[in-house]
Amino acid sequence: MITLGEGGTPLLAAPRLSAQLGVEVWLKWEGANPTGSFKDRGMAVAVGRALETGAQGVVCASTGNTAASAAAYAARAGIGAAIVVPAGAVAAGKLAQVAAAGAELVEVDGDFGAAFEAAEALASERGYVIVNSTNPDRIEGQTSAAAEIVEQLGGVPDVLCLPYGGGGNTKAYALGFEQAAGALPRIYPAQAERRGDTAASAIRIVQPVHRAEVEEAVQRSGGTVVTLNENEIASAWRDVGRLEGIFCEPASAAAVGAIGHGVAQAGERAVCVLTGHGLKDPDAIARLAA
Ligand code: F0G
Repeated sequence: MITLGEGGTPLLAAPRLSAQLGVEVWLKWEGANPTGSFKDRGMAVAVGRALETGAQGVVCASTGNTAASAAAYAARAGIGAAIVVPAGAVAAGKLAQVAAAGAELVEVDGDFGAAFEAAEALASERGYVIVNSTNPDRIEGQTSAAAEIVEQLGGVPDVLCLPYGGGGNTKAYALGFEQAAGALPRIYPAQAERRGDTAASAIRIVQPVHRAEVEEAVQRSGGTVVTLNENEIASAWRDVGRLEGIFCEPASAAAVGAIGHGVAQAGERAVCVLTGHGLKDPDAIARLAA
């Protein structure tokens, strides 16, 4: 078993955000994971399994958080890690994490899609295991967050909001609530209107690999996909820091931005998943805090 102490993150009441938004808001603080994002839940399982099958290393494409997590867990497991990122598009703190773990960084000219193709090629060339969310062990590990919410809240919330990049996390939450409670909250994945060049670099993904499964699960839950413009994401990010004292990264704030789209009624309980830590993206402060 490979672990850095992932999971068991706080579910925080958010009284001032609740007052502003007119619904009972809870924040699942995934920035409290070992590398500062929710990716650690699935990475612990995926890297542990890769080690079990005798793999010499793991490879991923990433906008930065999967990269930081894969690098750390591979180091912990004593195997190699090749990290493929779109050049010039990853927050500084995440690249620092990759370097600190001694992983191999491959920068690709192009977007996340191009990085993913390069990662697949590298995986078959070297016999490394892919640890993107197309690896089912990643999804299985990430289901633990939904089970924790059910335990912490004493039941399934009315509403779940979370940022939507490739959709692996939405898929994992749907599965996790079904496994833990046999029921779903209404699920509202929040995506950037400008998927290709949003300031929320973690969710800068043009083609979500899990789109069909996300749409199926969201529809079954009674929710919808919510689309946010850049101002809505920035303003939600400022609210989380200034009203509740939580420093998340810009992409994470999309979860809170979704509440502003009328997804929950007074008296309902809404959980927003704050997926990553603000310290990963110091440049965002200059862009968004003004
Ligand atoms: N929030 C953060 C902070 C992320 O890093 C990501 C995805 C998401 C939300 C979206 O999750 O893709 O499962 O819908 N980051 C990936 C990465 C793409 O490479 O770190 P999703």
